[in-house]
Amino acid sequence: MTLPPTDAEFDALQDRATSPDSGPTFGEVLQRRMGRRDVLRGALAGTALAAGLGPALVAHDAAAQGASASGAAAPAGGSFPFKELVRVADRTHHVAEGHQTQVLIRWGDPLFQDSPAFDPLGQTAAAQLRQFGYNNDFLGFVPLPQGSRSADHGLLCVNHEYTNTEVMLPGLVPQGQERIDWSRYTREMAEVEMAAHGASIVEVKRGADGAWAYVRGSKYNRRVSALDTVFEMVGPAAGHNRLKTSADPTGRRVIGMFNNCAGGITPWGTYLSGEENIDGYFVGKIDQSHPEQRSHDRMGLPSGRNPWGRFFDRFDVNKEPQEPLRYGWVCEIDPYDPAAMPRKLTALGRFKHEGATPVVNGDGRVVVYMGDDQRFEHVYRFVSKGRYDPADRKANMRLLEEGTLFVGRFDADGTLEWLPLVHGQGPLTAENGFRDQGDVLIDARIAATLVGATRMDRPEDVEVHPRTGKVYVTLTNNEDRRPEGANPLSAVNAANPRPANIWGQIVEMIPPGGDHAAARFTWELLVKAGNPEKPETGASFNPATSANGWFACPDNLASDGQGRLWVGTDQGWGWIRASGGADGLYGMETEGPLRGTARLFFQTPVGAELTGPCFTPDDRTLFVAVQHPGVDNVEKFTASGLSATFEDPGSRWPDFDEKMPPRPSVVVITKAGGGIVGT
Ligand code: FEO
Ligand code: CA
Ligand code: CA
Repeated sequence: MTLPPTDAEFDALQDRATSPDSGPTFGEVLQRRMGRRDVLRGALAGTALAAGLGPALVAHDAAAQGASASGAAAPAGGSFPFKELVRVADRTHHVAEGHQTQVLIRWGDPLFQDSPAFDPLGQTAAAQLRQFGYNNDFLGFVPLPQGSRSADHGLLCVNHEYTNTEVMLPGLVPQGQERIDWSRYTREMAEVEMAAHGASIVEVKRGADGAWAYVRGSKYNRRVSALDTVFEMVGPAAGHNRLKTSADPTGRRVIGMFNNCAGGITPWGTYLSGEENIDGYFVGKIDQSHPEQRSHDRMGLPSGRNPWGRFFDRFDVNKEPQEPLRYGWVCEIDPYDPAAMPRKLTALGRFKHEGATPVVNGDGRVVVYMGDDQRFEHVYRFVSKGRYDPADRKANMRLLEEGTLFVGRFDADGTLEWLPLVHGQGPLTAENGFRDQGDVLIDARIAATLVGATRMDRPEDVEVHPRTGKVYVTLTNNEDRRPEGANPLSAVNAANPRPANIWGQIVEMIPPGGDHAAARFTWELLVKAGNPEKPETGASFNPATSANGWFACPDNLASDGQGRLWVGTDQGWGWIRASGGADGLYGMETEGPLRGTARLFFQTPVGAELTGPCFTPDDRTLFVAVQHPGVDNVEKFTASGLSATFEDPGSRWPDFDEKMPPRPSVVVITKAGGGIVGT
């Protein structure tokens, strides 16, 4: 397409499979999506009533917001005794009774003493580089002082995944229209967006009154951006010929990271951050005969959502065809040292990294679990060569540079085989386009499919249960999954058992004897998401789950010190048909007779996504991130009845000030009067 895609179109584009023989073309996906959206606009009220939501869908502002409605009491013997919410979709957030929320930090808030005040009508890159970035996603908490177990003082590590240009920047969408007039888009605007990407490190503290605050001007505060932060490539692919560009003949120095979705905190207190939908940042199109064509096609490159390539040659693949190979990695950042150069870890492979979840294995090796979020992509695991030494942080910081990358094959008999991606083994040879290990890592997707990995329903976050050692991976949805008897490459399989799956599932991976490095695990389905009252969804929640407790499209996972699993949802533009309610955070039972029971704890404002759930070590504080409030499919909530724009968003959360656009923000949740969150 010549014009950059809108947010809705990009959502459909991201859903398009690039794995071979997988499904419809982008055009077909888009037509289906847009067609359905138009139908749904007329049918919204009916859908809401059918879902039992009724008047809660009537738009109202925080000022008019009474206490959040409470639903069913908890089933006896459960781990989540709070009174759960009644599912709604409105302009503000909600938390279960007995809890309180506080907005900790918002897009544009000043991080440094010299940071300018937030001026949404006068945004500059220089100001944004000194302010909290856009679309907060992953949240990690590392304690201060370093090495302590402090639960009241620490550093929050925050991904700023992407930008919603038309809601972030003023004046781009002509009145009465839904599409940006790109003739109005300038180099300065591109630089503002690049500055708003990346990450923030920010010192946070709990005061004597129990309230949290961030520390403006802390010596630890840092902005990592797509505009000016220099990264070092490390590991087997660093310096590879395919990673060299005209600006970097070494193949070892990259400017910026972008589309960093989820992540993880290592046992040595560094912050891992996954680069996900990197295709959106490149424009142009290389020739079909170009040596990188196979690689670009498999990553969906380039899809041009952010047309920075109009102003910067490195984002135009005709000019720099190898630049995209320098993105799509897991990044490691030392939050305790703001001067330390962040690194991209090539040993962990290149794909659309949702996140990276590290765990120290019994033998001291470090295992990192990773999902690749696109239809029919795979679940991965990295096992370090070296061993973790609690007394040698410097050595630990090199552990993720060397080891073996594996990809999962989920067999119908309940075994999970981890297949190594090692050059020269099996089909990973020059005849198949892999000249060395660097090629295998740069094109990990192609290698993984070639060795026979299972094609999954969009693998997202992974969480290792702190008590049982079981490992959970969310598969968010895959509308292109086909029925039994279809092409076996895209037909249902044991771990992805539903065709046209718009609800997703959670897979439980069980390491034998707790050995995360074992070649063979077993696996089970924890839950198939969707409305259990509608048999056609095939949902499999425990019958103790209430009409408010079931969910669709699981994405982020967190666990707490109580041994409880928490699930955040991202229904995207499909929220109306997926659940009819806004995204939220759910407690999820994993053991005992209540296994598979979910309970609704927190809901975002409409059009937002629940990201980054993160507990302090004492479980008395829960940080959540609200991403893109008032944006996704909010035509019933805008004044014009059209898609959200800066001038007319679906919500002005959290400020509810006519002069302020909606602002992605981090929210603190605590129990009123103190205590363990979610009890
Ligand atoms: Fe950025 Fe896969 O969610
Ligand atoms: Ca995500
Ligand atoms: Ca997602």
